[in-house]
Amino acid sequence: MADKKVRWGILGTGRMARTLAEALKTVDNTELYAVGSRLLEKAKAFSDGFKVPKVYGSYEEVAKDPQVDVIYVATPHHLHYQNTIMALEHGKHVLCEKPFGVNGSEVRTMIDKAKEKNLFLMEALWSRFLPNIIKAKEIAASGEIGKINLLTSSFAFKSANSPAHRHFNKELCGGSLLDIGIYPVFLSLFILGKPVEIKAMADIGATDVDYSCSMSFKYANNALASLYSSYTANADVVSEIHGEKGKIVLENRWFCPGNIKVIRNNGEEIPITFQFKGNGYNYEADEVVKAILSGKTQSALMSFDFSLDLIDTLDAIRKECGIVYPNHDLA
Ligand SMILES: NC(=O)c1ccc[n+]([C@@H]2O[C@H](COP(=O)([O-])OP(=O)(O)OC[C@H]3O[C@@H](n4cnc5c(N)ncnc54)[C@H](OP(=O)(O)O)[C@@H]3O)[C@@H](O)[C@H]2O)c1
Repeated sequence: MADKKVRWGILGTGRMARTLAEALKTVDNTELYAVGSRLLEKAKAFSDGFKVPKVYGSYEEVAKDPQVDVIYVATPHHLHYQNTIMALEHGKHVLCEKPFGVNGSEVRTMIDKAKEKNLFLMEALWSRFLPNIIKAKEIAASGEIGKINLLTSSFAFKSANSPAHRHFNKELCGGSLLDIGIYPVFLSLFILGKPVEIKAMADIGATDVDYSCSMSFKYANNALASLYSSYTANADVVSEIHGEKGKIVLENRWFCPGNIKVIRNNGEEIPITFQFKGNGYNYEADEVVKAILSGKTQSALMSFDFSLDLIDTLDAIRKECGIVYPNHDLA
């Protein structure tokens, strides 16, 4: 790219579209160039806040704009596959919100399309790029807390949203697992790898999606992971990685920019604090910009293989719990 600037187009004008637009202000070699909404008025209102040069009343127009280099898919889960394929077909690199697709078959097709078109594609799992999460992995891998026997992780809050909101709406592939349970599942895969055994149970609520989901993983070396997500419980959102010599604690709202500590078996506490820049979403955006400018088609940090392991694990949990979505069935 001659001018070394990556021009972004955003699909959707909701909460995450705004959050990433804010983050892009702190990312080098970046311009927020276009936004698309189902309604032109919404795109215009979005643009007023962020001074976006091009506004469109459809997603396809963003993808067709020859000035756009990369598209950020910030629509509800059920559209990720469709929006990503459409953007790739128009020759755009893509950063797609989590969950990448709703099932393994969607994710495989998205990856195959990106490979066919030789374009960059990445799942927007922002926590993977945060210094606190990367440090926790480094400590766990270093042997400092000994062999890891147990990982506990949660993401739960009481959602005050209506049954029509994407949290609860079956048509939008709602439910706690794909929206927030994906984070504890991510952490377990990131720290311990792919489990050999998966057990799970869900509370399927009135709108026929999982309001809570409880998961247990077993690893080849006998380590266990105990994970849950919920829209019906205001629980602490913490993670702990327990080893033979001590534990790593990822403090409340662990998946966000925050601090961690190591607590040794003798009670000694070693706090590890971080200086963050931006709102935290700039770290994943920075990875996208650097990858595109250097001609890469996938991220070494959030690779295709990792996203496939993640969705295959989510599929296995869905099978265990009977979490079913119309038009997005499991194989
Ligand atoms: N990485 C994170 O930390 C994080 C946090 C929250 C959510 N997410 C992910 O980001 C995605 C969007 O979440 P969000 O919280 O930004 O949702 P949101 O506030 O509801 O925004 C979604 C946007 O998608 C568009 N859309 C298209 N079809 C829609 C439909 N049938 N119903 C509702 N909206 C529709 C709308 O934009 P237009 O009307 O302008 O087209 C809407 O503003 C989800 O997949 C979620 O998993 C990620």
